[in-house]
Parts: sequence; structure tokens; C-alpha cells
Amino acid sequence: MRAALEVLARQRGGVAALQLAGGPHPVLRPAAVLQPDRGQRIGLDAPDWDGQQKFPEVHVLATPSREETREYLALARRAGGRVFFCAENRLGADGWRKKLKPLDSFSQHHCRLMELDPESLPEQGDPLALRLPYPEADFISCPGLFSWDRFDPGSQLLLEFLPAHLSGRGADLGCGPGLLARQLLKRGCAQLDLVDVDQRAVRAAQANCEHDQRCRGLWLDLVKEKPPGGYDWVTLNPPFHGSGQEDRALGLAMLGRAASALRKSGILWMVANQHLPYQEALALLNLQLLEVRQQRGYKLFQCQKNA
Ligand SMILES: C[S@@+](CC[C@H](N)C(=O)[O-])C[C@H]1O[C@@H](n2cnc3c(N)ncnc32)[C@H](O)[C@@H]1O
Repeated sequence: MRAALEVLARQRGGVAALQLAGGPHPVLRPAAVLQPDRGQRIGLDAPDWDGQQKFPEVHVLATPSREETREYLALARRAGGRVFFCAENRLGADGWRKKLKPLDSFSQHHCRLMELDPESLPEQGDPLALRLPYPEADFISCPGLFSWDRFDPGSQLLLEFLPAHLSGRGADLGCGPGLLARQLLKRGCAQLDLVDVDQRAVRAAQANCEHDQRCRGLWLDLVKEKPPGGYDWVTLNPPFHGSGQEDRALGLAMLGRAASALRKSGILWMVANQHLPYQEALALLNLQLLEVRQQRGYKLFQCQKNA
């Protein structure tokens, strides 16, 4: 359980409020929510906010992206009543306090809960809005998504590691805004599943792949949910941060999902920071290592699922 959620629940539990970002808590009673992360959304027992309805109280949870958090705060301003904002110190709570000059502020468990004056909040911004990260960009994305305004160097190395031609059915598990995926399409596959826990990533990936008929967007939390499976190949650049903290279990869970989603003899191509312990996990997952390469702080793996 996130500390900021715990602190918010202790102070504002039971109040029917609009909840922006954050996940479920047994004593929070959101009247509506906005949460594009499926893993968090699954446990939130409230309808999606329609963007119009006003509420007497709004709860905002900080996210690891300051820009994304700022946009949630802009929505809070538009949603009505009293605004309570909670941030962990590791997510810059003190900086937010200095910037937002709260009406009231309370510190507990390395978090700060602030009551904010809605008039002091940003007027513009929508964390669900996909946009060009910079004017010359030829892709859309938004703050909060992986490498939202540039092509990640790890993804670039993975692309160079892949064969020039890909056939059959594939999936990019954890597709982000789809910059890798659109290069995969150029290599000739018959079908490509774009899977991500963040709904905005799935939408962006589909748009950045120009809604190619071969693509299927799937909004799934791969820790809790299975993709369709039977893939001839899978690409994986596993996340190693969950809620802004290093989380090796998350990457290992995604690797496990990738292994089980392959058909027998299917191929996994993966890139990861070289310090992460994935190589040791491969044999346990019934994956045979065909090739490993070490480049610029990353490890690249080609593995085959045992027949
Ligand atoms: C390192 S990025 C890779 C993006 C893309 N494949 C690339 O290489 O450019 C990892 C992606 O995994 C997604 N992710 C994190 N946890 C996930 C989960 N539980 N289920 C599905 N996707 C997840 C993140 O949202 C992020 O987009």
C-alpha cells in the first residue's frame, strides 16, 4: 500500500470525493475516479469521472512525473470543491509544498497531505490528453508515459538487435507510446499486439502505428492478467520502476508473462539494464538463451521457448 494513500485515508477516509490518480484503499470511498493505470483501476470501485461533474471534495495523489501531477492538479481545480493533495517525500512533497503554498499541511510517514486553494492551481492541463511532445515530433504521447518525449536508448539497441524481417504473430509487452512497435511493423509481421498497463500508452501506440490493421491494442496489467498468447515472438523492455521506485519483481513478472505467452519454440527478444537479474531467471521460465549481448550499460537477450 502506498504511504500517500494511507495518509490520505487516515485524514479523509469515508468522504465521497473525486479521486485523481492513486489506487484503492479500504476506507477511501471515491464517488468517481480518474486512473489510466489498469493495475490501480481494477480495485477502484467507482465510475470513471466524466470530466464534467463537480464534487464537494477532490483527492489528488502525486505521480512520479511532476508534469503529469501538475495536470491532475489542473483537473482538480475544474472539478469543484476542497482539494486535498498527498505526495510522498520521495516524489518531491516539499517542493510541491513550497510551490503550491497550501492552506493547510500535515506530514506523516514520509508524506505530506496538503489542502490546496483551488484558485492557486494550474488552469490548463489534462493528463489524459495525448499530444506532440515537441513541435517537430512525428508521434504523440503524454507526460507519465515511458520515455514520453524521446525514443529510449534501450529500445534503440533492441531494434538494432532484432532481425530485419519478422513474420507471424508478435506482441510488444509493455508497449509504451509505441515507438518501438511502429518500427516492428515495418519489419513485416502479420499481427502485433500492443499491450500496456497504461490506457494512454495503448491509445498512443495505436495512433503512432497509424491504426494499422495488423495492430491490436490491449489494456492489461500483465502482473495480474494474461495476454492472449500463442505468439511467434515477443519483444520486452521490462519496466524496473513501479510508482517511482525500483521494482525488480515487476520486471520478473513481465518476463514470466512473456515466457508463457510464447508458443513452443517462439522467440523472446529482450533488453534490460545490465545490472538487473534476468539472465538467471530464464532457465526457470523454460527459456533457452540463444544469444546475449552487452552494450552501453544494457544486456540484450534472444531466447527460445523450449518445445
Ligand atoms: C521500458 S517501457 C518499454 C516501452 C516499449 N516497449 C519500448 O521499448 O519502447 C515498459 C512499459 O511497460 C509498461 N508496464 C509497466 N507495468 C506493466 C504491467 N504491469 N502490465 C503491462 N505493462 C506494464 C509501462 O507502462 C511501460 O510502458
